[in-house]
Amino acid sequence: MNEIVENAKEHFAKLVEEQLERVERMKKAADWTDYSKLKPIIIGLIGGDGIGPYITKHAQLILKFLLKDEVNRGAIELRVIEGLTIENRAKVMKAIPDDVLEEIKKCHVLLKGPTTTPRKGDKWPNIESANVTMRRELDLFANVRPVKVPELGIDWMFFRENTEGAYVLGSKGINITDDLSIDFKVITKQGSDRIIRLAFEYAAKNNINRVSVVTKANVVKATDGRFLAMAEEIAKEYPQVKWDDWYIDIATAKLVDPARQSDFKVFVAPNLYGDIITDEAAQIQGGVGTAGSANIGKEYSMFEAIHGSAPRMVEEGRAKYADPSSIIKAAALLLNHIGFVDKAKKLEMALDICATYEKKLVITGRDTGAKGEEYAKYIMETIQDPNLEDKWNSYQK
Ligand code: IPM
Ligand code: MG
Repeated sequence: MNEIVENAKEHFAKLVEEQLERVERMKKAADWTDYSKLKPIIIGLIGGDGIGPYITKHAQLILKFLLKDEVNRGAIELRVIEGLTIENRAKVMKAIPDDVLEEIKKCHVLLKGPTTTPRKGDKWPNIESANVTMRRELDLFANVRPVKVPELGIDWMFFRENTEGAYVLGSKGINITDDLSIDFKVITKQGSDRIIRLAFEYAAKNNINRVSVVTKANVVKATDGRFLAMAEEIAKEYPQVKWDDWYIDIATAKLVDPARQSDFKVFVAPNLYGDIITDEAAQIQGGVGTAGSANIGKEYSMFEAIHGSAPRMVEEGRAKYADPSSIIKAAALLLNHIGFVDKAKKLEMALDICATYEKKLVITGRDTGAKGEEYAKYIMETIQDPNLEDKWNSYQK
């Protein structure tokens, strides 16, 4: 008994030390990258697993098209990064193989297809998620996920904390005995400050008068309690932005309440709650295949589809019917982030027209719908339409 307790204490002490070190690193964090000063801006392209390479190649073609001039004059480099596959990761038993991580760190921004996250009992070893590792390694603390459903008046922006919460020690819990397992959840002052501030900044900059903070601070008192207390403090610096606090359960319910859903605007939440409500929100928009996700840090940023690698689609021969919308939306978020606001806007308008207004092609994930390639071509033609903006505007009434 004593030995068991001693071992657990030792394990816990190590985690505390690691987290205290992480806090020190956050205190020293670099300034935001100024993309206008980089030449070239290196965009790393990562295919991922399962349907990843199938959908990512379409997003790559669209980026190549939209950035043709910049690539030609050396302002942008599009660099394919190989090796972030589950086969390779399983081989070296690492969430991200060292040589791949090294290549990734040479880029400034990344567009990443979904990567398989193994779990116990899979055919793959139960290694840590590549997503979670990349977010941690590159300190991509903000997971920014927009969701829009114009016909329901929904225009939401989610700021999900991306580097701590239930995730940071998600692979470092302890199976104390055959009967007892303990996991850990971590919230820091620095980690909360930076994500909450980003949400309030976004609201203030865009004249949005509402930020909703989502926690379960009534039950999870130390960590969620801290997150909420930080929000209270930071909100004082933004008197022009109204804010409210919600518990995750009722927030989840109200997202599907037709009487309330359009009142919400900006959300900020710790990692796991943000994970859950952003899938719910994406579903309201038309499915997780339709939402893009930006993982933003001060130095690096990574843009990805919000969904998983769907290995079953590949096994059943349906990969060619996978919806590339999410990763293409991620490409639009990337363009916007590195300063190509007009190109991003164009791509977003084309995505809106194809998915919501015109719907000449529909994707179902099966042979009852269009192939990803046909759909990507449809988007590409829509971008090239000289009347794109007028067309989009005509749908805005
Ligand atoms: C997401 C995904 C990931 C997460 C998985 C793949 C680890 O669900 O990006 O939301 O839980 O963060
Ligand atoms: Mg998720």
